[in-house]
Amino acid sequence: MDRYLRIALAKGRIALQAMELFEGIGVDCSMLREETRKLIVRDPSSMVEFILVKPKDVAKYVEKGAVDMGVVGKDTLLEQQPDLYEVLDLGIGKCRMVVAGIDNAGDSLNRPVKVVATKYPVTAQNYFRGRRESIQVVMLDGSVELAPLVGLAHVIVDLVETGRTLEENGLVILDEICPISARLVVNKVSLKMENDRITQVLKALRRALRKAV
Ligand code: PRP
Repeated sequence: MDRYLRIALAKGRIALQAMELFEGIGVDCSMLREETRKLIVRDPSSMVEFILVKPKDVAKYVEKGAVDMGVVGKDTLLEQQPDLYEVLDLGIGKCRMVVAGIDNAGDSLNRPVKVVATKYPVTAQNYFRGRRESIQVVMLDGSVELAPLVGLAHVIVDLVETGRTLEENGLVILDEICPISARLVVNKVSLKMENDRITQVLKALRRALRKAV
């Protein structure tokens, strides 16, 4: 075992919970918790190496084989549809992908062409295509909830966790597209080359998740 198993974590909400999961199976993540500007941190005792990257970039690193595994939200996977193996639902970062709009704007879902603001254009197109509805997408980078309030869009497709952002802005869920959570993903070549170690990690995580229920 002379090579580090390389894992990419999505920065932000998921990262802390993911670290707890890896610590639960004996990988020391203390160096990730430290205030550091290092982009690669290692735990020599378990021969695991972590990189912390923007959520949108995790799948890229995994797909191209720059890392062996990654932890990334299902929302990003649905949007990017990367060529990799999605092997485990980690049950963290749980939220829902929804269509939402202004409360009492009764006809906002019945327009011939709806304008939909979102960070998830592929997911939005797929959902409305499934309903045989044409949409025009306004791609935003954040604070999507603002769009219907200022007339930029009729509805939004976005993540809802607690529902607080919607509520405080007078928006309601019009339909639920799917539940979302963080997934463990694996590079296709790594699964062959590092099969024993990846299988070990997978089994340990599965056991830890079963215990946690
Ligand atoms: C996400 C999502 C919603 C909000 C939902 O945004 O896009 O805006 O969280 O959370 P809630 O239901 O608990 O209120 P994020 O905080 O990632 O920031 P962003 O708006 O800049 O994308």
